[in-house]
Amino acid sequence: MWTVKYKPRSLKEVADQTEAKTRLLKWFEAWKPGSKAALLYGPPGNGKTCTVEALAREKGLDLLETNASDVRSEERIEHFLGRGVRETSLLGTRGKLILIDEIDGLQAQSDRGGVRAIVKIIRESVFPVVLTANDPWDRKLYEIRSLCELIEFKKVPVRDAVKRLAEICQREGVKADPQALKAIAERNQGDLRGAILDLETLARGRKQITLRDLEILGKREREADIFEALRGVFKSRSALSAKLSVINVDMDPDEVFWWIEQNIVNEYERLEDLAEAYEALAKADLFRSRVIRRQNWRMQAYMMDLMTAGVSQAKREPYRKFTRYQRPERLSFFSKTMAERERLNSLLGRLASRLHCSTRKVKTEFLPYLLYLAQQDERFARRLASALEASKEDLKMLASFYG
Ligand SMILES: Nc1ncnc2c1ncn2[C@@H]1O[C@H](COP(=O)(O)OP(=O)(O)OP(=O)(O)O)[C@@H](O)[C@H]1O
Ligand SMILES: [Mg+2]
Repeated sequence: MWTVKYKPRSLKEVADQTEAKTRLLKWFEAWKPGSKAALLYGPPGNGKTCTVEALAREKGLDLLETNASDVRSEERIEHFLGRGVRETSLLGTRGKLILIDEIDGLQAQSDRGGVRAIVKIIRESVFPVVLTANDPWDRKLYEIRSLCELIEFKKVPVRDAVKRLAEICQREGVKADPQALKAIAERNQGDLRGAILDLETLARGRKQITLRDLEILGKREREADIFEALRGVFKSRSALSAKLSVINVDMDPDEVFWWIEQNIVNEYERLEDLAEAYEALAKADLFRSRVIRRQNWRMQAYMMDLMTAGVSQAKREPYRKFTRYQRPERLSFFSKTMAERERLNSLLGRLASRLHCSTRKVKTEFLPYLLYLAQQDERFARRLASALEASKEDLKMLASFYG
């Protein structure tokens, strides 16, 4: 991934953030045991974590790095960091820098111990401690905050983002229209990680990027919508609002299903909640397979209700925490590469125009039948392929769409 490949190796390579870098260095130079920790905060993808990594590298320090949401409990934090922060290394040659990343991932209730452990580490560490957060003003972080020097990381300005994107293009041998780079930077609003991800998506299989190619990125906008919808399903108390929250998402219900499936474990913690949520999802899945196998679209309403309202109502109480929702690992159609999806859509479109109907109708009514015939009869398969100007592989891909 380009975000990893082009991670800044030095502080100088960190785009923008001049003031934050200066303050961080000053804090670091002045630090002695008992001093405040540094809390780097700001919106996602603007260089907080990688700046700390660059600092450690530049100063020749071992970076002891842990993600706060991975080490919830007191014992585990103690286990990861406890010895490290108190014992100077035996050889004593290299110093250490402690990074506790994403502390807003801690939860107010269940991570009480986590907060306590972090406070203890800040107080007792014989090495400088850096923390990061998107939102440092959360009440649960009050105690930690009072032990920290706050350093703000601002959104990366469009100009600096464009410069970085252009550098990457040059090193990758990609020719990019400056207007396109500017548009990428603008749509990511200060999130350089997002901009680099977009750039990589666009450059896949191409050596040139124009403004027109940006249409492809609509996909990521849809992802922003789905995150919002997931919050609606998981956080709301009302069955109706859980149901309504997915309505405006521009995605197949099938795709939404996998997003919900992937994230139940990220949101729910109580065993009863998990059990009931999976129960509802399993029922939704029954209807889902009936929709697909029998092309019975009326069943889809039940599937939707169960996977939204059903999963939503499974919890005793909404969890008051920030959840990082993840992209589903198991998507059939949707996990196909952009090129495959384009190919698939163009095949569907060709069939639709030959059969004088919508692509939806092709998908739901004609294609299962045609594919069935093609499977039974080699000659029919060849005729179908040639009528569609498609290859055997294309037909296989169409078939895989039906699982
Ligand atoms: N200011 C920057 N200069 C150069 N590269 C950057 C910068 N900000 C982000 N990146 C790129 O994005 C990637 C992710 O950045 P980083 O992990 O530092 O973000 P972050 O601010 O910690 O985000 P989050 O709040 O989500 O943890 C980096 O590996 C790098 O490729
Ligand atoms: Mg980070």
